[in-house]
Amino acid sequence: MVKRLKIVAVVLVLLLSLAGCKGDGEKTVAPAQKPVAASGKEIKHPGEKIKIGFSMDTLLEERWLKDRDLFKKAVEGMGAECEVMAANGDDALQISQAETLISHGIDLLVVVPHNAEATAAIVNKAHQAGIKVIAYDRLVKNADLDLYISFDNEEVGELQAKEITKRVPKGRYVYIGGAITDNNAHLFKKGVFNVLQPLIDKGDIQIVYDQWSKDWTPANALVNMREALKATHNQIDAVISANDATAGGVVQALDEQGLAGKIPVAGQDAELAAVQRIVQGTQTMTVYKPIKSLTIEAASLAVRMAKGEKIDTHKKVNNGKIEVPSVLLSPIAVDRNNIDSTVIAEGYHSREDVYRK
Ligand code: BGC
Repeated sequence: MVKRLKIVAVVLVLLLSLAGCKGDGEKTVAPAQKPVAASGKEIKHPGEKIKIGFSMDTLLEERWLKDRDLFKKAVEGMGAECEVMAANGDDALQISQAETLISHGIDLLVVVPHNAEATAAIVNKAHQAGIKVIAYDRLVKNADLDLYISFDNEEVGELQAKEITKRVPKGRYVYIGGAITDNNAHLFKKGVFNVLQPLIDKGDIQIVYDQWSKDWTPANALVNMREALKATHNQIDAVISANDATAGGVVQALDEQGLAGKIPVAGQDAELAAVQRIVQGTQTMTVYKPIKSLTIEAASLAVRMAKGEKIDTHKKVNNGKIEVPSVLLSPIAVDRNNIDSTVIAEGYHSREDVYRK
């Protein structure tokens, strides 16, 4: 009798475990039953897809929507899965979202940090779970980051300053910076001053106003630019603004004084609104960073690293703690003359949108 009961129990267990198998041969595993390595990282079932987590700071600027969609598409194109979370510029939320992604069984985490320093906590948490971390577009500082992929951000600033000094070799300059919490904002500014400093030293250029714009918002840039105009009684010859969002605030402030289109303004990102301003003549230039190339490269590195492949990079960038293996792509200066051969030719924006009246 006992023996018969035992047989029934074995058959039941077998039936129950078979019920967990899908018809296509793919086994469904309830999350709680997933085997876990000593590191805390889930052990993949053979055939189970690689999963990449993408933790983003914000989706506010137009470019980040492209980053999100193109990165997800590129990861999926490589046969892997991608889960995205965006934190609306909130450091605590970005950390908790990264924890959520880790608990969802990601194999690798890609992070666009809101705050270069605060995000080190994310790297530590991921590492405790045996998950590698790639910093995307913005560097994470003071952490054992596994890889950094971005554009040459110092070059972005250099391109801006070269274009503006060609038009205004002497005069009174305003610098409207990005978010002080973003490492890129510092690199952009460094690039600008690499070009301006010798001219400042010669006495050709004077910096009459220089301020960061909290969280990169057009509203904060608008306040800064109004202040710059007020403090100088509108005696300004050129403005370099760290990106197109802030350049939008700058142009609005110039417009209020009847100066839009009369003073050269530089931005960055080739946002549609900025490229339209270039066509209309209220913004002089922008810096185009081919986001598609960045997403394809980042997705390929992420999936290869998640599979345990060793990645060799030519560059290293110091993040205050280690020399981070890095991949830096090239930015492109865009003005009225090369809109067609750059952003339009590459399908970043349509001709119809750019030249819309
Ligand atoms: C990015 C820029 C962007 C800015 C604001 C920077 O880190 O490199 O492309 O405009 O953040 O989101």
